[in-house]
Amino acid sequence: MRNLISIADLTNDEIEEIFSLADGADKLRTDRSASGQIMATLFYEPSTRTRLSFESAMQRLGGSVISCSDMKASSTAKGETIADTAKVVSSYADVLVVRHNWDGAVQAMAEHAEVPVINAGDGSHEHPTQTLCDLYTLRREKGDLKGLTVVVCGDLKNGRTIHSLVYALARFGANVVTLAATGMELPQYVIDRLEREYDYAMGPVASDDLSAVVTETDALYLTPKQPHQLALFTQVDKVIQARLNTMASGLRYDAFYMTRKQKERMKDGSAANSYPTIGPDFLNEKRFQNTVVMHPLPRVDELSPEVDKDWRGIYFKQAAYGVPVRMALLKFLFDQRSVTPSASSKETGAYRDSLSSGSKCRNLNCVTLKESVSTQRRMELYFADEIGVLISRCGYCDHRFKVELIGHVKSKRYCAYDIAFAETVRAWMRHGELAVFDSIKEAEELGYEPYKTGPQRVLMEEAEISAALADVSEQILRDCQDMDRLTIVGVRSVGSRLAQRIAGEIETRLKRKPELGEIEIYGSGNELKRIPPADPDAGPLNLKDREVILVDDVIFTGRTVKSALSIIFRSGRPKSVRLAVLIDRGHREIPVKPNYVGKNIPSSENERVRVRLHELEQGEQDQAVIYSIVNPIDDVETLARNEERAALS
Ligand code: CP
Repeated sequence: MRNLISIADLTNDEIEEIFSLADGADKLRTDRSASGQIMATLFYEPSTRTRLSFESAMQRLGGSVISCSDMKASSTAKGETIADTAKVVSSYADVLVVRHNWDGAVQAMAEHAEVPVINAGDGSHEHPTQTLCDLYTLRREKGDLKGLTVVVCGDLKNGRTIHSLVYALARFGANVVTLAATGMELPQYVIDRLEREYDYAMGPVASDDLSAVVTETDALYLTPKQPHQLALFTQVDKVIQARLNTMASGLRYDAFYMTRKQKERMKDGSAANSYPTIGPDFLNEKRFQNTVVMHPLPRVDELSPEVDKDWRGIYFKQAAYGVPVRMALLKFLFDQRSVTPSASSKETGAYRDSLSSGSKCRNLNCVTLKESVSTQRRMELYFADEIGVLISRCGYCDHRFKVELIGHVKSKRYCAYDIAFAETVRAWMRHGELAVFDSIKEAEELGYEPYKTGPQRVLMEEAEISAALADVSEQILRDCQDMDRLTIVGVRSVGSRLAQRIAGEIETRLKRKPELGEIEIYGSGNELKRIPPADPDAGPLNLKDREVILVDDVIFTGRTVKSALSIIFRSGRPKSVRLAVLIDRGHREIPVKPNYVGKNIPSSENERVRVRLHELEQGEQDQAVIYSIVNPIDDVETLARNEERAALS
């Protein structure tokens, strides 16, 4: 039995097969391919196109449809779980088409249903059948998908159609240019997947390339090859500027894919910002004379009705293709009922987290948090890169998080994860002995005790840290060209505390505070934000044309800075970016040179430098310490030897 939850559930060949079936939709209609079959539509969110085109498709195939006109008027209102609804309705129908407002809810329902389940859109996660319509439309208009350049535009953060579409475009070898509204950039978990699974790289698009149509936002270019590397050098701003200006200019744009602001997924206040629009200016630009305009619809005011009259506005065709494409999909899934899903789509070689551990998804809209009773908590672990950053991925909503605390199931010991433990952790994964925790409290409540680390030596005391920050602040002010454009951005959590202190120093000198923000490298979706308490009317942090000072506590490999720069450039092209660190350990795998350094402390790979701040660790003084790392596996062996000795004596 096959479900369609993510676009990754279909191979490229299967998508082509569905398109061939859609080309012959008239034959499917005359063959009455679904005669005697019943489709149930369960829409927990409003819909016009998806619901009606599925219902029309099923009827044209000779099948019939049952439905709840409003899920609020179903037993959901009495507290019925999605698991029970799926079980019950799958005994009334041969296929379920489900739309839900929670990320991962359709996956959860598929785990309880006895018949194929189709995702008609789940929260901000995916909308795979819309993507089938989009690809089918593009293929009919432009021919081969490989090599096309598609600009995805608008709310890339919450737009589920965008997420499924960019994965599919990557798989078919198309290029993607992202043109996000401020604060609505493509989420880090989507970028991670594009990089990890589809080998895509990201670079900026030359600033004037798209300005004819869209202001207020910057474009980024996602491409399978890597001709345009994101600038990593923060030393000389002129160098950055020169690199940016030569990147990805003069691209040929085959399609603009516009989306509406997903107001229903936003907290109050975040919906009020400027938003890119497409109107008559677009039609008059010579360079877009062959660029088609697509939109999953409904539109609000981001796409002018002027475009409807032009041959390039193909969104009504795109909606109309919903019927043949969904007829083809239903026929395909009915034919596949006795087929086991191919492993290719879901097998990522990741380790499935042991249920004895405490790791949970941190996406607040994930079904595992909204209705845990209908899910089996499932976090998959993998190494993000060859360096050994450990990532956990939610099996329902696909959000990804950096692993901070690990434990050994047999010895019941835990410690902070460090890349030096990568090999040990791989061995634990192989033997099913790895546990992951979200907090020390959680580890200890599950009966784990801490591993010991080697002896510590103090590198910087409180007074020296304060003096170094004062000196760095002085230098920042000396180099700053325009105080009104200065934004200090810290890497969470120690970096953002240091950023606040630097901002405080600047405020003392100038009697005004610079703009402040923080970056979460692997977070729950909100990677770049203002540091609370922020002015509620200030809107999301926008780094376009700002003089950005990126602050972190320690620089060693340079990978954290690389990830932070990638988030910064995604949110709008700054005028300049300079890097300030309290401690530079001297080793570098990524060629990033800090502009401001509190102290140079050369140290080796198996040493760790940690900055403690009293704001973050109660009862502690500000200190930077160095210690040798004790590989947990050695500790496990010592424990085993001690136990053996105790048993013998
Ligand atoms: N494109 C799309 O999903 O439209 P509906 O919300 O009307 O189904």
